[in-house]
Amino acid sequence: MDQFLTVAQEATHQAGALLRDNWLKPKTIEIKTDIVDLVTNVDKAADALITSMLRAQFPTHKIIAEESAVSGQESPYQWYIDPLDGTTNFAHGFPHFAVSIALAHQSQLLVGVVYDPLRDETFCASRGHGATLNGKPVHVSPAPTLAQALLLTGFPYDRRKRSEFYLRFYQAFMVRTQGVRRSGSAALDLCYVACGRADAFWEWRLHPWDTAAGALMVEEAGGKMSTFSGELFDVLGEQTLASNGLLHQEMIGVLQQVLTAQP
Ligand code: IPD
Ligand code: CA
Ligand code: CA
Repeated sequence: MDQFLTVAQEATHQAGALLRDNWLKPKTIEIKTDIVDLVTNVDKAADALITSMLRAQFPTHKIIAEESAVSGQESPYQWYIDPLDGTTNFAHGFPHFAVSIALAHQSQLLVGVVYDPLRDETFCASRGHGATLNGKPVHVSPAPTLAQALLLTGFPYDRRKRSEFYLRFYQAFMVRTQGVRRSGSAALDLCYVACGRADAFWEWRLHPWDTAAGALMVEEAGGKMSTFSGELFDVLGEQTLASNGLLHQEMIGVLQQVLTAQP
């Protein structure tokens, strides 16, 4: 386990340095699935750096990285890599993005590291060994009700087609909480729930590279992960709900209310 964590940390730090060196420089920006779904030359360079480091250390493991094809043979060990979570922020020079790397063994998350290169913050989680921020243990917040909570969320890349649907959830939480923030990095959103900077997070249609490391952070920090109906969280599923645990039922109640009220 220690070796996995050490390599994941080293890879996030090297890729993070690449992001830090390039975030204010001109970039090549391409469009992926929709005009709001971007990728830069730096996403690709960071992806190549991380995958080659992991391939060199763990040649038999499977690697699932956002900007490259799945590599490695079938293996019980699977790495999930987001070389740059927060590409839209990065492309605009908005200072909030991260590198996210996680390892699962037969679909159980073992280790996760999220690195924010501009704040030099390393969020680390290892199953059964807790969650840390720059080496110090972190814990979820004690907020007991939504009325006292600060929430985080995001909108997936099909948001222009389904804006009304996604906004109904936003509106429901906006009127029940102290605030809802849309930061542009789901990996950091989950880490912020883990360390108590926010109390809960929900988002539709994230990918395993967005959530794997952050989900383990939340669980190891004493929080809860699930679907919007309270089912087991699955990195391959469509619904991500994270909370400090105390808010979980109230979050599910609101999400279900909005879902059942759909026209
Ligand atoms: C995105 C960010 C964003 C979330 C999107 C993700 P990317 O990842 O995490 O916060 O709202 O759904 O796709 O494209 O910047 O790696
Ligand atoms: Ca992402
Ligand atoms: Ca990305």
